[in-house]
Amino acid sequence: MHFKENGRRWCRLTVYKGAGMLRRRAGQEEDETLRQKTVKSPDERLHVAHPNPITTSQKPATNPWLAAVEPSPIGETKRWVLGRTFPADRPLIDLSQAVPGYPPALELRRHLGELLLDPAVHGYTPILGLPSLRKDYASHLSSFYGAAITAGEVGITSGCNQAFCLALMSLAKAGDQVILPRPHYFNHDMWMRMQGVEPVSLDFRPGSGAVPHPDDAAKLIGPRTRAIVLITPNNPTGAVYPRDTIHAFYELARRHGIALVLDETYKDFLPEEARPHELFSDPDWRETLVHLYSFSKVFALTGYRVGGVTAGTSLMAEIEKAMDCVSICPPRLAQEAALYGLRHLLPWARRNTEGLKARADLLGNGLGRSNRWRLVSIGAYFAYVEHPFSGQRSTDVARRMADEENLLAIPGDMFGAGQERFVRLAFANVTDDKIPIVLERLERFGA
Ligand SMILES: Cc1ncc(COP(=O)(O)O)c(C=O)c1O
Repeated sequence: MHFKENGRRWCRLTVYKGAGMLRRRAGQEEDETLRQKTVKSPDERLHVAHPNPITTSQKPATNPWLAAVEPSPIGETKRWVLGRTFPADRPLIDLSQAVPGYPPALELRRHLGELLLDPAVHGYTPILGLPSLRKDYASHLSSFYGAAITAGEVGITSGCNQAFCLALMSLAKAGDQVILPRPHYFNHDMWMRMQGVEPVSLDFRPGSGAVPHPDDAAKLIGPRTRAIVLITPNNPTGAVYPRDTIHAFYELARRHGIALVLDETYKDFLPEEARPHELFSDPDWRETLVHLYSFSKVFALTGYRVGGVTAGTSLMAEIEKAMDCVSICPPRLAQEAALYGLRHLLPWARRNTEGLKARADLLGNGLGRSNRWRLVSIGAYFAYVEHPFSGQRSTDVARRMADEENLLAIPGDMFGAGQERFVRLAFANVTDDKIPIVLERLERFGA
């Protein structure tokens, strides 16, 4: 609807009540211009007036659920340093995005180079992936978890993010609720909100090492709850959830007839032979468990977009429909890369894991000696630390740290409300020699 005011043409957009809250990140001030132009109508919706320089009648209205979601935290953090140049003696150290600090194995790159010449590897594959990859991935999971998982129970996706999106779409509809431990992986929270699914936050107890408690989750389950999401080893905290905790969450989900969505993107970064849980040994796991995985980190293939979802075959049939619509099939060459990795590169991956463990120890020990920064938890790719500036928001702290110390990290604020005291350090991104410099910069910052 259009109207004129102060000689300008405006259009009236309708934003459902509560969207203004979603648009704001925890504790941030509401956009002043938005607030001034917001009038509550008797039907309890919010009407937001917008300047309309050209003609809005041709502009498609955006999906209010999507419009209410914050921009990507990765994009936003990277923008803090965009266009800046850094002196050679104080280069930018980027601990923001979780990416392996090394390239894929040379033999994998050579293999893919040769494959490119094969005319048969450029077309679509079946919707849920190459049969050979599904078979090998199912046997990989079977041996990792000591269980019998079949090729029909795994699907290959365009990365683990897509695996989550498809799984959530298959489990919950708009208006449903899903329990999400906080701090959350922001893309999980964003996708739920985009779908109109309500994330119900589950906070960890102080002193728990950032591990959520199943008793706290039990209190959040209601008639609209469809699933609980767990990530272990965790992003953003690095916390590795104890086996008993994972089992207790599984039991809770099973008792209530809801799903446990378990994202184990970082499972390969656990100590060798440490089986994180025995859930796949339950003959009824297919009724409760939905397992997610990524080939991005283990084989350093973040740009290829290849991951996996494991579930009972009836849920898999729903996932297949959604997959067909969003990407027809996962990228062909990426599947070839994952297949080669599973067949040839697990020892290579293990060596990288050992390197990362040594780096985590270096960082963890250094943080343990600090009188200013407090280590909350550390593992796999991440350390979650409490910053020393009480009363200051982590977004402001992290931004100043980028400006003054050329050290980029994601503030706790971006992982949910109540995380203003924390900062995530994605230490996998850098080489070992950078860790002492990171520690030095942290100590000097604001001292
Ligand atoms: C917990 C978790 N799940 C999923 C993903 C996305 O993985 P992929 O690159 O396979 O989409 C990430 C990436 O950082 C992650 O940390």
